[in-house]
Amino acid sequence: MKIAVFAGDGIGQEVTAQALRVLEALPLPLSFLTGDVGGMAYKKHGHPLPPETLTVARECDAILFGAVGDPDCDNLARDLRPEQAILGLRSAMGLFANLRPAKMFPGLEGASALRPEVASAIDLLIVRELNGDVYFGEKGMRTTDAGLREGYDIMSYDESEVRRIAIAGFEAAQKRRGMLCSVDKANVLETSQLWRDVVIETAAGFPDVKLTHMLVDNAAMQLVRNPGQFDVVVTGNLFGDILSDQASMCVGSIGLLASASLGERKTAHGTFGLYEPIHGSAPDIAGKGIANPLATILSAAELLRHSLGQEEQAARVEQAVAKVLADGIFGADLGGDADTATIGDAVLARL
Ligand code: IPM
Ligand code: MG
Repeated sequence: MKIAVFAGDGIGQEVTAQALRVLEALPLPLSFLTGDVGGMAYKKHGHPLPPETLTVARECDAILFGAVGDPDCDNLARDLRPEQAILGLRSAMGLFANLRPAKMFPGLEGASALRPEVASAIDLLIVRELNGDVYFGEKGMRTTDAGLREGYDIMSYDESEVRRIAIAGFEAAQKRRGMLCSVDKANVLETSQLWRDVVIETAAGFPDVKLTHMLVDNAAMQLVRNPGQFDVVVTGNLFGDILSDQASMCVGSIGLLASASLGERKTAHGTFGLYEPIHGSAPDIAGKGIANPLATILSAAELLRHSLGQEEQAARVEQAVAKVLADGIFGADLGGDADTATIGDAVLARL
């Protein structure tokens, strides 16, 4: 079982190192290949996603990804910026379905930005489309007739893109509590009208799932008002990006949210995927050894589950993480003083 490890920039290096310790501790025949991505790859190879990194990705069953983003690169042309590494991998590997689970951990209710009795009910999954939308449409800078600078980014989805992510949402709901909430902005956007039409058409194949629709502004509000109402949320690339950061603070910290990005490519034991924490490279705390590695460790658990077919080992890792939190071992993001390596040690001890 071959895993590509792309740690990337900033705290990506620190959190990935801890997730690797956890994977190496498991009784599995894993081998690891590394590759450069992001600002560090640009500095070494002149490109944030060098061809050799893509070659490594294609040889493996899964990618464990840290984070990309480097303030040194903020003035580069957009196609050379660190973020292009993750966008490029998602697109080159056809990873269109991004699963971002958000669940309250027992003992963490007090860390949520929400009242504990509201936060304790959180157990939701955001299924975010990852290969389309305003992220990948035509974009550019131009000058208006009046001589003003104008930036533009085209938002679009075709029906096949909506259908495949809708199916991913319905299938996820079937495995959970059977409820799917599709989030769009159909009162204003044509892209969203098509989204809604196609989701409704797709629902015919899933009579066991209860489908609802919600406008994205309302969804943002409902997520803090009553997050317990959500089971699976399916939404587009941009709305999913925003709502998943919001969901993370409802749980307590962005340092806790894992993600799995999946496509159609199969591995010997599951589906090829890319696994990453939803947080970024956090340049402000990079190198200090205080980043929370739990989101990356939980992402490694998702990797075991989806790409390697190791449900039992995945659950073991998740239980060890839950135990660390229940035991009150918190990093700075949760108001504690455990550093990155200490949290890694604590997970290993409970494993
Ligand atoms: C995420 C990140 C990325 C995104 C960035 C780094 C391009 O915010 O994975 O949520 O916008 O998708
Ligand atoms: Mg994001």
